[in-house]
Amino acid sequence: MKKIIYDQYGSVDVLHSVEVNKPVPGKEQMLVKVKAVGINPLDWKIIMGEVKLVTGKKFPKSVGCDFSGTIESIGQDIQKFKIGDDVFGVINPFKEGVLGEYILVTEKEIAWKPADLSFEQAAAIPTAGQSALQMLTQNVSSLSGKEVLINGASAGVGMFAIQFAKSQGAMVTAVSSAKGHPLLKKWGSDFVIDYNKEKVTDLKKKFDVIIELSAKLSFGKAKKLMKANSTYISVTPSLWNFVHSFSNNLLSRKKYKILLMKSDTRSLSQLAHEVVKGMDVYISKTYPMADYKEAYKTVIKEGALGKVVFNVAS
Ligand SMILES: NC(=O)c1ccc[n+]([C@@H]2O[C@H](COP(=O)([O-])OP(=O)(O)OC[C@H]3O[C@@H](n4cnc5c(N)ncnc54)[C@H](OP(=O)(O)O)[C@@H]3O)[C@@H](O)[C@H]2O)c1
Repeated sequence: MKKIIYDQYGSVDVLHSVEVNKPVPGKEQMLVKVKAVGINPLDWKIIMGEVKLVTGKKFPKSVGCDFSGTIESIGQDIQKFKIGDDVFGVINPFKEGVLGEYILVTEKEIAWKPADLSFEQAAAIPTAGQSALQMLTQNVSSLSGKEVLINGASAGVGMFAIQFAKSQGAMVTAVSSAKGHPLLKKWGSDFVIDYNKEKVTDLKKKFDVIIELSAKLSFGKAKKLMKANSTYISVTPSLWNFVHSFSNNLLSRKKYKILLMKSDTRSLSQLAHEVVKGMDVYISKTYPMADYKEAYKTVIKEGALGKVVFNVAS
C-alpha cells in the first residue's frame, strides 16, 4: 500500500510516497481502507517541526489526521463496528498520520458515516467541526442574542463556527479577505469585514464572544472589543498562552479561553447529523493523493476556503 511519510522536519518537500505492507489490526483495532483525507493547518505545523516538543524525534512520521473510509478487517475485541462499515474520524496527529491507502484505528477514534454524507464531506468534518462545536458549547453558556466576532472565518473552523453560532441565535461578525465573503454570507454571517480594508481593532462594536482563528488578534488587542462579561477563545495552546489565560481568568470578567480540541464518537456523530440536516460543508478543492505536495503547498500559500480534501480512493 502507498503511504505519505517524512524522515525529518522541514518544508512540504520532505514528504514522499512509500510502498509498505498493509498493517494488521491488533485486538482493539480496525483496518480502514481510506477513501478521503481532510487537510488541516496542524498537518503542516507538525511537518515543519512547530510542535516537535510533543511530536518528538522519532521518524519516519506520517501526515494528516482527518479521514473517512471503509472497515476492511477488525480485531477480536471490536464490538461496535463490523467489516464493511463506512466510518470517519480523527487519529492523534502527534503520534501517527492518515494519508495512505490503509490505516489502523480504534473504536474511540471513529463514528459511522451516514449514507447521505459523501466520503469527502465526512473527511472535512472531524477537526474543524469538533473545534467549533467545543468552542461554542464548552466555553460559552448561551449564544442567543449574543454578539460573536469570528476573526479568520473563511476556512474550516470558521465555517462550522459561523453556522453553529447562527443556529443558536447569535449575531455574527465574520472576518476574512474579500475572497471568502460570499461564503461567510452563505453560512449566515450578519456582518462581514475584509481585514485588508478595515482593522478589526477599529470596530466600535463590543462583543460577548471573540473566536480568534487567524493568529493575528491577541487577547491583549482583543480586550478593547470585549464587553465587560465576555469570552475570548484562542486556538493557540502555547505554554505562555496557558499561563496568561490562567492568571487573567483569576481576576477578570473578560475571560481568556484556549481550545484543545478533543475528539469523541458522540460529537463526530452529532456533526454528521447536522450536515445531513443541512449544515454546509464547503469543499473548495479536492486533490488525488498523488498530488500531496501540490495540495499542501497551495493551501499553505493561498489558504483554504472551507475545506480542502484528498480523494484517496473512490
Ligand atoms: N487548538 C486546537 O485544538 C485547534 C483545533 C483546530 C484548529 N486549530 C487552529 O485554528 C486555526 C484555524 O484553522 P482553520 O482550519 O479554520 O484554517 P486556517 O487556514 O488557519 O484559517 C485561517 C483564517 O484566517 C483568515 N485570516 C488570515 N489573515 C487574517 C487576518 N490578518 N485577520 C483576520 N483573518 C485572517 C483567513 O482568511 P483568508 O484566507 O481570506 O486570508 C482564514 O479565514 C489554525 O491555526 C488551526 O491550527 C486549533
